[in-house]
Amino acid sequence: MLRTLLPIGAALLGATSVLADSIPTCSLSQKCPESAPCCSQYGQCGVGAYCLGGCDPRMSFSLDSCAPEPQCISRVMQMNSLDRIVDVSEYLGDSSKADWVAQGTPLVYNNEAVLLTMPANSVGTVLSSTGYMWYGNVKATLKTSRGAGVVTAFILLSDVKDEIDYEFVGTELEIAQTNFYFQGILDWNNSGNISLSDTYDNYHTYEIQWTPDSITWLVDGQVGRVQKKSDTWNATANQWNFPQTPSRVELSIWPGGASSNAPGTIEWAGGPIDWNSDDIKTYGYDFATFKEVEIECYNASSAPGTNNAVSYTYNNWLATNNTVVNGNNNTIMNNFQDTGLDMTSGAKAGASSVSSASGSKSTNSNTIPGGTSNGPGSSQGNTDSGSGSSSGSGSSSGGSTTGSASGCSTTGFSQSCDSSSGSSSKSDGGRVVGGERIIGASAFAVVIALGAMMVL
Ligand SMILES: *[C@@H]1O[C@H](CO)[C@@H](O)[C@H](O)[C@H]1NC(C)=O
Ligand SMILES: *[C@@H]1O[C@H](CO)[C@@H](O)[C@H](O)[C@H]1NC(C)=O
Ligand SMILES: *[C@@H]1O[C@H](CO)[C@@H](O)[C@H](O)[C@H]1NC(C)=O
Ligand SMILES: *[C@@H]1O[C@H](CO)[C@@H](O)[C@H](O)[C@H]1NC(C)=O
Ligand SMILES: *[C@@H]1O[C@H](CO)[C@@H](O)[C@H](O)[C@H]1NC(C)=O
Ligand SMILES: *[C@@H]1O[C@H](CO)[C@@H](O)[C@H](O)[C@H]1NC(C)=O
Repeated sequence: MLRTLLPIGAALLGATSVLADSIPTCSLSQKCPESAPCCSQYGQCGVGAYCLGGCDPRMSFSLDSCAPEPQCISRVMQMNSLDRIVDVSEYLGDSSKADWVAQGTPLVYNNEAVLLTMPANSVGTVLSSTGYMWYGNVKATLKTSRGAGVVTAFILLSDVKDEIDYEFVGTELEIAQTNFYFQGILDWNNSGNISLSDTYDNYHTYEIQWTPDSITWLVDGQVGRVQKKSDTWNATANQWNFPQTPSRVELSIWPGGASSNAPGTIEWAGGPIDWNSDDIKTYGYDFATFKEVEIECYNASSAPGTNNAVSYTYNNWLATNNTVVNGNNNTIMNNFQDTGLDMTSGAKAGASSVSSASGSKSTNSNTIPGGTSNGPGSSQGNTDSGSGSSSGSGSSSGGSTTGSASGCSTTGFSQSCDSSSGSSSKSDGGRVVGGERIIGASAFAVVIALGAMMVL
């Protein structure tokens, strides 16, 4: 579950520790303060992009602290350019202007696919869809990464941590692992495997069909697994432990075998990662290859599962499907100082989002969760890194989300609650530094150069 995301947040946040002590952390039992009301998916409080995708209303100052979530828009996304992919530091919530928000380094390969890359000692790359799906069908045509410790993922994740997964471990190239979670509660019995031909060498089309009553995982059109809601009743909690809230599509490559991760995570990921892998030696990075992603919104005419207004918000802390409101609240902020509590404070950011970022920097608040690899001036990263402390907190919050503090220390998959300092700094540094160097210089030039390298 959250192990997919936490390494990135932790790593980025750990890159710098200048402001570490000043960044509030958040969890179910510790909501954000009014001054930094939004709890990011990494468990840290801030404004701006902290209030966009991944902002957990249950852990935020109030239910309306997070920005409303852009509702589902059906679309077919040919992954053959970066035109519809924006860096997290440049996205203010207008889902019509971009398909994906990126953290890390996506590259175009040979005009036919987008590579999510993971250079040595980095934390990889994640793309999150700008629109949210409240049930519906999504499919991705992709080739996975390979090698010990390298994980590729194609998942649905809601802001309250409902989750439906495909995950691929780089040492098990003939298995697609599937899983689901309700509000981040760990349950080791929820996983299931689908066998298929080598996922590194072959494109497969992975599909998730999600309705209020069931989840169906299909590979190349063949049903591989079905999970019925009716089999998820939790008598203790008196509710269905079944994913039911609007979710973003997330595509990622990440180092499950990084030494900073918990031993169980490393083991699950196929062992310690090899930063001198064949792909890193040959191409400069491990990578996963995404060719096409298609979102088909669920078309219910009454809740749950509608998309006939503008946005999704929550009206109750329970965050079950009957607490989701498909309404007309605006999803677009003016700038990176805004929050769901005031989406139009100050001036609109100009075409140059860099200016807004620098504005936020001057006010010294957290505006980009996980930091950013983009834009000139590593100081932006440093500011966020203030949130760096978060790296530790981020992971621990993940643990708490899982329903109990014990989540942190458990068996395997929960991301290192103890990853605190050392670990995060390691993977962090790599990605932030690498990202700044690469993207800051000239994304286009680098894409061309690396693309050429790939054309063997
Ligand atoms: C939606 O908009 C209404 C009217 O402006 C406002 O009262 C409410 O707080 C908003 N809800 C959320 C969750 O932002
Ligand atoms: C998982 O399944 C085992 C065996 O059926 C059961 O004992 C255990 O309680 C289950 N765990 C959870 C979290 O449901
Ligand atoms: C799925 O495959 C992995 C790797 O072989 C294995 O460790 C795991 O137990 C399998 N899970 C299930 C539910 O069969
Ligand atoms: C049932 O719900 C309780 C309370 O939320 C939770 O602690 C427990 O892990 C859940 N059980 C399962 C099997 O998910
Ligand atoms: C939308 O409705 C049509 C017609 O009722 C149905 O065939 C289709 O499967 C629906 N799509 C989704 C994603 O539910
Ligand atoms: C979603 O909402 C419907 C209608 O309110 C309800 O019948 C259903 O049980 C809910 N689904 C889940 C998974 O809670």
